[in-house]
Amino acid sequence: MVMTAARPVVLSGIQPSGQLLISHYVGAMRNWVAMQDTHDSLFMLVDLHAITVPQDPATLRARCYDFVALYLAAGLDAQKNTIFAQSHVSAHAELGWILNCYTHMGELERMTQFKDKSTRAGAVINVGLFDYPVLMAADILLYQATHVPVGADQKQHLELTRDLAIRFNHQYGEVFTVPEPFIPQTGARIMSLQEPTKKMSKSDPSALSYIGLLDTPDVILKKFKKAVTDSGSEIRFDPEEKPGVSNLLTLLSIFSNTEIPALERHFEGQGYGALKVQTAEAVIAFLAPIQEKFAALRADEGALDDILADGAGRARARAEVTLRRVYDAHGFLPRR
Ligand code: TYM
Repeated sequence: MVMTAARPVVLSGIQPSGQLLISHYVGAMRNWVAMQDTHDSLFMLVDLHAITVPQDPATLRARCYDFVALYLAAGLDAQKNTIFAQSHVSAHAELGWILNCYTHMGELERMTQFKDKSTRAGAVINVGLFDYPVLMAADILLYQATHVPVGADQKQHLELTRDLAIRFNHQYGEVFTVPEPFIPQTGARIMSLQEPTKKMSKSDPSALSYIGLLDTPDVILKKFKKAVTDSGSEIRFDPEEKPGVSNLLTLLSIFSNTEIPALERHFEGQGYGALKVQTAEAVIAFLAPIQEKFAALRADEGALDDILADGAGRARARAEVTLRRVYDAHGFLPRR
């Protein structure tokens, strides 16, 4: 019998709590696409997390279909990957409960994302928002993920996941794999086009601050033209002194596949206007084939449902194995 080494397991997801943005693509999805051939990969629609802030049901449903179609249009292969909705696999909520019993209040109180979201004007603070990182840990640990490709803003959540896995294993033996974050060197934190010291975010009240993967070319050009840049006129990569220009250079570098020093040389003697237009053009050109594929995929919700059903079936079978071990470790009676 030929023994083949198990491939490393990758798991990640995005909350359908707003539009899918170029920042999600750059920070996370582009690595998902790159890893799908070499890793055993699971990619989720993180719908249970999305309801930690209020959602309109019809909008959420439509957005979930948009997300699956965009995952596929951006290059994820439904055959190679397990693509599923978090709410279709009840083991996530079940393991989340168990892990709650191993998480200290202080650990969650320290989470910067919770502090940010809960201190926003008019924020509705529910227990789910507070407990969010524990459910995220459950998402990851259920599948024994080895790598979690995310943007820099998820690093703290990954550290908690690792701590919980280590704490649990210490008590019960090697139940969970301790995962590693997989954060890109460039583009781990794409900034708002309107306030380049803040991260680009789907929950930003100003649509000018972000670029959606489905924004039309006109809208993309308009948003980049209105992007806030810095004082001076030199086009130089310097995130401290020139956060706006550096953010545009990062985006242009990724979407045109050109190194930043080459871009700095290219823009010598040119003004911010040229940088904005050329960044817009690179993003528009990159998104055009994705948007075209999206239109065809999105038109067939039945086919998207089939992909999710298939993914959920495979995910459920794997998640159950871990959950049984966790229940058994606690002395819960076996289910017959
Ligand atoms: P979410 O939905 O906020 O973001 C999805 C992914 O996009 C990355 N990201 C960014 N990357 C670069 N620049 C930005 N401005 C930027 N904004 C967002 C995020 O880091 C993330 O990788 N908690 C997660 C969802 C989640 C998850 C999981 C992820 C739930 N369970 C299990 C991985 C594994 C979140 O809210 O991502």
